Amino acid sequence: MELYLDTANLEEIKEIASWGVLAGLTTNPSLLAKEKIPVAVFMREAENYVTGPLSLEVLGETADSMIEDARHLKKYGDNVVIKLPLTEEGLKALKVLSAEGFQTNLTLIFSANQALLAAKAGATYVSPFVGRVDDIGAEGKALVEEIKLIFQQYQLKTKIIAASIRSARDVTDAAVAGADIATIPYGIFKKMVAHPLTDVGLEKFKADWAKSGIQGL
Ligand code: E4P
Repeated sequence: MELYLDTANLEEIKEIASWGVLAGLTTNPSLLAKEKIPVAVFMREAENYVTGPLSLEVLGETADSMIEDARHLKKYGDNVVIKLPLTEEGLKALKVLSAEGFQTNLTLIFSANQALLAAKAGATYVSPFVGRVDDIGAEGKALVEEIKLIFQQYQLKTKIIAASIRSARDVTDAAVAGADIATIPYGIFKKMVAHPLTDVGLEKFKADWAKSGIQGL
C-alpha cells in the first residue's frame, strides 16, 4: 500500500517528504481553504516535494463546469489528478475526462455501488471516506474490503485510496483490507512513527552506553 499525505499545508508536505515515505498527495477545497493559499501558489511550492500523483478537486457543480475546472487544474502539472465528486454530474464529467486521458480520483465515496459506477466510467482512483463512514456508526474498513473484493472479482483496474483516515489503526486496517493507497493526515503520520516501547528502549541504550565509559563508536 502506498502512502499519500492528505493536506494543503506546505510545512507538513516538506516534513513528510523528508521521511522518504511519500508516494503522492491529496487535497480538497476545505484543506486549501484552511491554509488560505491560492492553488497556483500552493502548486508552485508543492511540486518541489511531490513527484507522485497530486489530487486537486474541481469546484463546478455541472459536468461542463467540472470539465472546465479540470482542464484548468491540469495545467499545474503532469502529475495532477482531477478529483471529481461521485454525483451524476461527476460521472458525466468522468466519462469525458477519462476518454481524454485525464487521471481522475472519484471522491466522497460512501458505498460499494458508488465505487463500482466510478470504476465502470473509467476512474483512475476511488476514495472511500473511511472516517466519515465510521462517524455515522457504519464500518469504513468493511467498505474498503467490499470495494476491494468487487474490483478483484471483476478485474477492475481502478485503485482504491482509503481516505478520511482518523487514526493510526485506520491505516493498518486499510492495508489489511487491501487498499492500494491510504491518504493520511500529518498528525496520523506522526502517530504511526511513535511507540512508547521505542522511547523506553532508546533511553535504556543511552543509559547503558553512558555507564560503560566507552568513548565514541
Ligand atoms: C481525501 O481525499 C479527503 O479529502 C479527506 O481524506 C477527507 O478527510 P476528512 O473526512 O477528515 O475531512
